[in-house]
Amino acid sequence: MEEKKKVIFSGIQPSGNLTLGNYLGALKNWVKLQDEDKYECYFCVVDLHAITVRQEPKDLRRRTLEVLAIYLAAGIDPEKTTLFIQSHVSTHSEAAWLLNCFTYIGEASRMTQFKDKSKRYGESVSVGLLDYPILMAADILLYNADLVPVGKDQTQHLELARDIAQRFNNLYSPTFTLPEGYIPEEGAKIMDLQEPTKKMSKSADNPNSYILIMDPPEVIRKKINRCVTDSIGVVNYTDEQPGIKNLITILGAISGLKPDEIVEKYKGKGYAEFKKDAADAIVGELEPIQQKVQKFLSDKEYLESIYKAGAQKAYYVSNKVLRKMQKKIGFIPRA
Ligand code: AMP
Ligand code: TRP
Repeated sequence: MEEKKKVIFSGIQPSGNLTLGNYLGALKNWVKLQDEDKYECYFCVVDLHAITVRQEPKDLRRRTLEVLAIYLAAGIDPEKTTLFIQSHVSTHSEAAWLLNCFTYIGEASRMTQFKDKSKRYGESVSVGLLDYPILMAADILLYNADLVPVGKDQTQHLELARDIAQRFNNLYSPTFTLPEGYIPEEGAKIMDLQEPTKKMSKSADNPNSYILIMDPPEVIRKKINRCVTDSIGVVNYTDEQPGIKNLITILGAISGLKPDEIVEKYKGKGYAEFKKDAADAIVGELEPIQQKVQKFLSDKEYLESIYKAGAQKAYYVSNKVLRKMQKKIGFIPRA
């Protein structure tokens, strides 16, 4: 008998424009995993997560389709992988409610991401933001995912998902697979171009802080040219030179070269040349993707066929797990 493939689940929020951090820290790695042909992959546009902060409806609609088009353009293949929009699969919301009742307020309010974001919103922080990681646990546990490729910042949420799963398994009987994080070596964390000790994020105020997957080549070159470095003047991979270190990480994630190979290559060369090569590499990687994104976005019917088929498959798989949860909890099975 054929061995059961390990299951991979991941998602990205359509809450802003995707950055080079999303691409190198998440998407590029997903494509590699998919192409290894030894995993059953589910990749999702997590629009339910996006509304934990206020979204303009028309922007949310546009971005949801754009993220889907970016998945496809980056090389996610709907023939191999289940690609869907989270809100199209109702089991996610239902399972999140159930899991809420197995999660402690203490656990949820200790999440760093919640603490950071709630500082920004004060008393008017939504309950949804507190609930965010529990919905994420539902996403993962509904597919009995073994591996969850995410950036380092998501490891705390993953641990919570494991804790909830374990609690449920112990209370009833084994129901959920305990998921593990899958964090890539290269490009695990891409930093802000202006403040390279902070993670590159689409929510930064200064657009020079990030590169968007959809930024035109000249904008990418300008942003790299302006990015913060230091006065040391030697290309080195060290925490004392966070700006240069970040460019090395980026270049490494694109080219596959190791940091010391890059350092060696730029021995005795100045930052100007290094920055130019880094910009060329980013443009070379993103430009073909951008062209494909435009092509997919101009074919709404094709996109629709992809997310429709994806949602059907995702519903079929996740509904079985949801039914199991409901039964164990003590709900009367539907006639
Ligand atoms: P988000 O943009 O927060 O929805 O994140 C979507 C995915 O991209 C997650 O796996 C994140 O960890 C990853 N990600 C976001 N920003 C970065 C970054 N600067 N470096 C590496 N990975 C990132
Ligand atoms: N919280 C994740 C992030 O911001 C996005 C996400 C939602 C996710 N559900 C998920 C990631 C399930 C992996 C698995 O990056």
